[in-house]
Amino acid sequence: MSTQGRGTGDSIAAVADVAQMAYLARLFRFFGRTQCEGRSAVYAGLSAVVAEEPEVLGLLLRAPAEQRRPSLLFAAVNHLLRERRDHPLAAYYPIHGGAKPFDDGAPAAFRDFCRQHRDGLAELLAHRTTQTNEVRRCFALRMGLARVAAAWPGPLALLEIGASAGLNLRFDAYGYRVGDRQTRPEDGSPVVLSTTVRGDGPVDAVFRRPPHVPYRLGADLDPVDIADPEAARWLEAFIWPEQVAELRTLRAAIDVARRNPQPLVRADAVRDTARLIAEVPGRAPVVVFTASLLTYLDAEARSRFAAQLATAARDRPVAWLFTEGPGLLAGTNVITPLADPLRTTGELYAVGVSLRDAHSHHDELLALADPYLQWLAPARSPHDDFTWLASS
Ligand SMILES: C[S@@+](CC[C@H](N)C(=O)[O-])C[C@H]1O[C@@H](n2cnc3c(N)ncnc32)[C@H](O)[C@@H]1O
Repeated sequence: MSTQGRGTGDSIAAVADVAQMAYLARLFRFFGRTQCEGRSAVYAGLSAVVAEEPEVLGLLLRAPAEQRRPSLLFAAVNHLLRERRDHPLAAYYPIHGGAKPFDDGAPAAFRDFCRQHRDGLAELLAHRTTQTNEVRRCFALRMGLARVAAAWPGPLALLEIGASAGLNLRFDAYGYRVGDRQTRPEDGSPVVLSTTVRGDGPVDAVFRRPPHVPYRLGADLDPVDIADPEAARWLEAFIWPEQVAELRTLRAAIDVARRNPQPLVRADAVRDTARLIAEVPGRAPVVVFTASLLTYLDAEARSRFAAQLATAARDRPVAWLFTEGPGLLAGTNVITPLADPLRTTGELYAVGVSLRDAHSHHDELLALADPYLQWLAPARSPHDDFTWLASS
């Protein structure tokens, strides 16, 4: 390549980087406003700081384009901070023993930490991917399994696609609490998940005895092996600074999974779902659970995933049980009674089930919920359009 050619290439790359930095700055501001407000004062404050800080933003350019997200940068910082609790930044992270409210010292501490650990952060950002496993989403799984069991009594097979570390596969080892109602966890499990309920729809399904699920498999593009302590630590790095209880729950769920590991395979939702369903032994209906998977798939990939489910349902009953953004269900053939703005929103999740076999197809919206299942609004009837929730 000529010198002149290299110069042109370099300047094109530089222009692309400037555009990326502007995009990332907007992304951090958006993240701070829409995801962190009311949930994390530390990340809300730091998002605004990072948006104005080219040196820190530039670190994210080390990550592959599809991984350049605020959560990845914050997780990388959190991961290193865990081992350096004497740094002033740790004082703002309750999960690392800190108790200081976000103040004028926090931005300086964050900048200093990023400067001191530039190489370590760059290394993590270049090679690690976003990885979370929110076991509270088992509330959606429990509701959905109860609905599937009502339609198809008998044993069920469970396949979670986008399973991360597979912690949701142990849904029946955990206790569940809503208000003063609680199921007891399996003997020896310290995990009790809790959520709050909005509206007056019934939550009984959560507390019903779950169906027998003798076959369980988790599949993920990038499965997390929680037997590997470093992989478990990386999963923990996605817990937010104030989420002390969530960290405790995640660690307890990891312990449960280590005592009774569930099989996990590397697979792609878009290419492998029909094959994984066909490989389930026996004739039991297969429940395919996805929780926060669709956000990783573009529109075409979402339709291809749905087509895999439809193909598999020609040979055996398949229930797709989901907790996903309603706006992302477009193109998946799932019909919900939601009207705009709920139909297209990405701010909450639709919990629902799509039951199919060779002769029938039935979709039902069971609840709307916070994406992390911190609250749950059960449907008041199978045709509930949730206008009451939008106006409450
Ligand atoms: C937000 S996490 C949710 C994990 C888990 N379902 C939960 O609720 O905690 C999404 C997971 O989907 C996985 N994923 C993304 N694209 C995928 C694909 N095409 N096929 C399979 N898994 C995928 C990611 O690796 C990640 O583990």
